[in-house]
Amino acid sequence: MKKICIIGSGYVGLVSGACFAELGNRVILTDNDESKIESLKKGKIPIYEPGLDKLLQKNKTRISFSSSIKEGVLKSEIIFICVGTPPCDDGSADLSNVERVAAEIAGNLNSYKLVVDKSTVPVETGEWVKTTIERNSSKKSAAAFDVASNPEFLREGTAIHDFLNPDRVVIGVSSKKAEKILTELYKPIKAPIVVTDIKSAELIKHASNSFLAMKISFINAVGNICEKVGADVTKVAHGMGLDKRIGRAFLDAGPGFGGFCFPKDLEAFYWISKKVGYDFGLLHEVKKINEEQKKNIAKKVEDALWIVKDKTIAVLGLAFKPNTDDMRMAPSIDILNELNSKGAKIKAYDPQSMAKAKELMPYIRYCKNVEETCKSADCILLLTDWEEFKNIDFKKIKKILKQSILIDARNVYDPGKMKKLGFIFKGIGK
Ligand code: UDX
Repeated sequence: MKKICIIGSGYVGLVSGACFAELGNRVILTDNDESKIESLKKGKIPIYEPGLDKLLQKNKTRISFSSSIKEGVLKSEIIFICVGTPPCDDGSADLSNVERVAAEIAGNLNSYKLVVDKSTVPVETGEWVKTTIERNSSKKSAAAFDVASNPEFLREGTAIHDFLNPDRVVIGVSSKKAEKILTELYKPIKAPIVVTDIKSAELIKHASNSFLAMKISFINAVGNICEKVGADVTKVAHGMGLDKRIGRAFLDAGPGFGGFCFPKDLEAFYWISKKVGYDFGLLHEVKKINEEQKKNIAKKVEDALWIVKDKTIAVLGLAFKPNTDDMRMAPSIDILNELNSKGAKIKAYDPQSMAKAKELMPYIRYCKNVEETCKSADCILLLTDWEEFKNIDFKKIKKILKQSILIDARNVYDPGKMKKLGFIFKGIGK
């Protein structure tokens, strides 16, 4: 049993805390947002992540919440930094939260601490965390500490499964003691543990996310060629993916990647590469293709409707992917802003993200279900492949539509079947 303090109770912090407790450790989850901590104490979870509420409840005897970093640090040996690293205007990662937390840890070194960075940060952050702690601690009373990097690879919607069943655990350390503590902590998890130096661990995270984003942009670009020549991107992805060197995962063409990780990590990796003297232009192209893909979707709607002004578009799904309520950098935002600017009337339904979407897109008429959304619409636009959209009775829906036009931006539906039902149907890359 290890004594763990998590600083930052957002997606990564809450999931990691709940999972470390599940593995038998004692966890103090902290956050500087007092109202969030008060809600968590009452059992209210600020995010939608399947299974998280149950896991926190199941392990409640091992988990406590505090708005005091000091309390968490004093009572723990391993301190995980899980604070946000949002993008600055120039694309670099804003590391001020990380610096503030490191300085606060420094004032509370009552015994040996292992300070582990789990937030996604650019290479060399570990060094800065170490320097910040050294600069802010009183040399006489402060105990020894180590800094380590342990990047997370959690996908929203399946974060708990990803934490407990990862493909690998990456640990970047600079001492044998830190390596021992972290390998013991992760021992119950059946996955290879990759031990590296701190900088390599930091790079593994940025390189992994950028590579996955590159796969998505690559297949979206291939999809655009497929449309021009009359090929099918799903078949191309299948044929490519059977090659073990390529792999089928992350080759689903769609409306472009969103979320708080890929767009931000791609930018930050490009920025840090430039800073150290290398122009990683490939990353720039990955972003460009992603931005164009969102425009392509809006254009598909326009091409199908001819005049967009005053036409009603029924949007199914707003979140950047299913099983999350997260709207951050969701492709739906750019796509629908574009259609709204052209005078379309937009109705939408998403099983989880509508509360968050309302703040970003107040011009949408939010509906209770698929039927209400589709009633009298000129066109259906599917943007997120939620399970409940996969079995829609389109025979029934067709009767309440004004025009039978369906744009499937996730390639969920069978084009042949939809055309048979009488829909003007457009998928992606087909
Ligand atoms: C990602 C990484 O997968 C995870 O390892 C990391 O640490 C955090 O960022 P997440 O942002 O939760 O996770 O979502 P992910 O499932 O990776 O999807 C990201 C985006 O890519 C979504 O918008 C999704 O719809 C899109 N996507 C994914 C595609 O368009 N096609 C694909 O084939 C896969």
